[in-house]
Amino acid sequence: MISFADEIKQGIPSVLPNPKPWDPAVNHAPKRKEILSNTEKKLAIANALRYFPKEDHAVLAPEFAQELKTYGRIYMYRFMPEHPIYARPINEYPGNSEQAKAIMLMIQNNLDHRVAQHPHELITYGGNGAVFQNWIQYRLVMKYLSEMTDEQTLVMYSGHPLGLFPSHPNAPRVVVTNGMMIPNYSKPDDWEKFNALGVTQYGQMTAGSYMYIGPQGIVHGTTITVLNAVRRLAKNREDIKGKVFLTAGLGGMSGAQPKAGNIAGVISITAEVNPKAVTTRHSQGWVDEIISDLDQLVTRVQKAKADKEVVSIAYLGNVVDVWEKFDQEDVHVDLGSDQTSLHNPWAGGYYPAGLTFDQANDMMANDPEQFKTYVQESLRRHSAAVNKHTAKGTYFFDYGNAFLLESSRAGGDVMAANQIDFKYPSYIQDILGPMCFDYGFGPFRWVCASGKPEDLQKTDAIACAVLERMMETCPPEIQQQMADNIQWIKGAQQNQLVVGSQARILYADAEGRMRIAAAFNEAIANGEIGPVILGRDHHDVSGTDSPYRETSNIYDGSRFTADMAIQNVIGDSFRGATWVSIHNGGGVGWGEVINGGFGMLLDGSEQAKRNLTSMLHWDVNNGIARRNWARNENAIFAIKRAMEAEPLLKVTLPNTVDDQLLDQLFRL
Ligand SMILES: NC(=O)c1ccc[n+]([C@@H]2O[C@H](COP(=O)([O-])OP(=O)(O)OC[C@H]3O[C@@H](n4cnc5c(N)ncnc54)[C@H](O)[C@@H]3O)[C@@H](O)[C@H]2O)c1
Repeated sequence: MISFADEIKQGIPSVLPNPKPWDPAVNHAPKRKEILSNTEKKLAIANALRYFPKEDHAVLAPEFAQELKTYGRIYMYRFMPEHPIYARPINEYPGNSEQAKAIMLMIQNNLDHRVAQHPHELITYGGNGAVFQNWIQYRLVMKYLSEMTDEQTLVMYSGHPLGLFPSHPNAPRVVVTNGMMIPNYSKPDDWEKFNALGVTQYGQMTAGSYMYIGPQGIVHGTTITVLNAVRRLAKNREDIKGKVFLTAGLGGMSGAQPKAGNIAGVISITAEVNPKAVTTRHSQGWVDEIISDLDQLVTRVQKAKADKEVVSIAYLGNVVDVWEKFDQEDVHVDLGSDQTSLHNPWAGGYYPAGLTFDQANDMMANDPEQFKTYVQESLRRHSAAVNKHTAKGTYFFDYGNAFLLESSRAGGDVMAANQIDFKYPSYIQDILGPMCFDYGFGPFRWVCASGKPEDLQKTDAIACAVLERMMETCPPEIQQQMADNIQWIKGAQQNQLVVGSQARILYADAEGRMRIAAAFNEAIANGEIGPVILGRDHHDVSGTDSPYRETSNIYDGSRFTADMAIQNVIGDSFRGATWVSIHNGGGVGWGEVINGGFGMLLDGSEQAKRNLTSMLHWDVNNGIARRNWARNENAIFAIKRAMEAEPLLKVTLPNTVDDQLLDQLFRL
């Protein structure tokens, strides 16, 4: 059998590998709807055959035509590599550039079977969050990375490697764009069409930018959200006991909800229609119990309430049925949300009530119009049931999955009296925006490239010591956030959050990120730990413009602009990022968001020290400055602090106007 390194260096094999049998044990992407005309199908196949010499076309053309017919996309399954895909220690990757090796490690982590949602379709999470469109792109990219030097940059167009271009050592080694479209061609069906043609892909956030670290990445943010949502209802730990949190989704990100529920100390019920997703999360210990009968669920929840248990329950079935049943049986829900993938409502993101999982999969592929009517009817039922609960006192928040947006589009009763806003806040408006993003706190993360658990342990200790030192002098405005983050990092080892690479997420502000990264770089230089890869979720202070999610607490009208995200990726790229990415879509849907991220290899060098200081400072303060300009009070506070700490930072501050003056004007 060919060695790992040789297979990587081989790229496109000179002899066609045998076709790969379909593996029913793997969680596969749903069949995508048929959208191409016959002329377009020919174009899709011609596009796919561009990667291969003419002599292979007679074999591959019918095979790709069959894949397109059966799955709605051409994945080129035959070219799945022989080697198992997972994040190896960095020194096991062949190559001439440590930075390129770090990127290979992160790509492999995103496609690891334990990490990725649909690994054979190269989908990391969110139902359609692709690393590449097909297996030949994977092979080519790995080959380029194994060949490139620090004088080159690899250019990635939506999974397709355009090629290596001459650059310089402090330039990014890879620049990624995913799904960037002419704005008028950014409707959901445009994704279906242009993705089926093989010319674009939905990169989600950390999928197409090689920065996904498994559900841990989201557990922390979810914990912060659930914890602070619970704090709105209960003053202390004792009051929290017995509170019920009802939500849906045990997929890529949503799978973090039960774990966060346990950490927050509530009884959580997470409905999930896909049996594979339920068993995966249960076997990983992310959810405690599985129940598939509604009456049993009611009895179990009533017992948990009576005993004030902290427990997470997966309900195998549709969440709409749970909301309705709990209403009929008068099971009080304290906290409610939803994390079905409504950013992708017509292609498997949301399973309508009234259809089994298999019936829904069948209908979405074979009768998409009918499926759409089912989804919309289900959303009307769903929102009506939520409304009944909120009338009884449930605190419901939108979890950034476009639940309210799609419910409103479906005619659900979710609009506020002014018919502009929704009835319920998004988690960003009430919680993460004002408490975290406006102060610069966001999902900073790192991966120990040595692959050693002891390196992760050491970095946890280093990060914790930095935060504890900062806590001694930090202003009261951010003490709660700091305390939550210290508690998180202290419990991180015990909570066994690692799936795949030796990675850690830790919410931190600009100062925290810079100080932690500098301490890592020093520890690497001293030989205490191996190299570390820094990054973050795109779901952050500055990286993402998303009017219904990350920037939903921007109220000056600019939340429908995307200058911040574009400025961010440009700024990161010339301040020393190892790779950068910018995406259309991610979280809330194609055309609904622009988001970007970075990766940065710390190798203990002086250059790494300069880069981390310069880039992390920009990467957070760009967003704080913009939030400040939107007149967000906490951001004005944070940017003033940042200017005091760094005299070279000069940010335009807003003036506020007296409301009365404006009111008078319009009474005239
Ligand atoms: N966790 C977070 O912090 C976070 C933050 C922002 C947004 N989101 C959003 O949450 C959504 C979920 O993300 P994901 O990665 O988990 O997606 P996913 O597609 O992996 O998981 C969603 C799950 O919901 C299940 N589902 C769909 N309809 C259902 C229904 N009616 N009843 C019960 N289960 C149903 C699906 O089977 C699937 O397993 C996305 O839209 C994402 O953007 C999550």
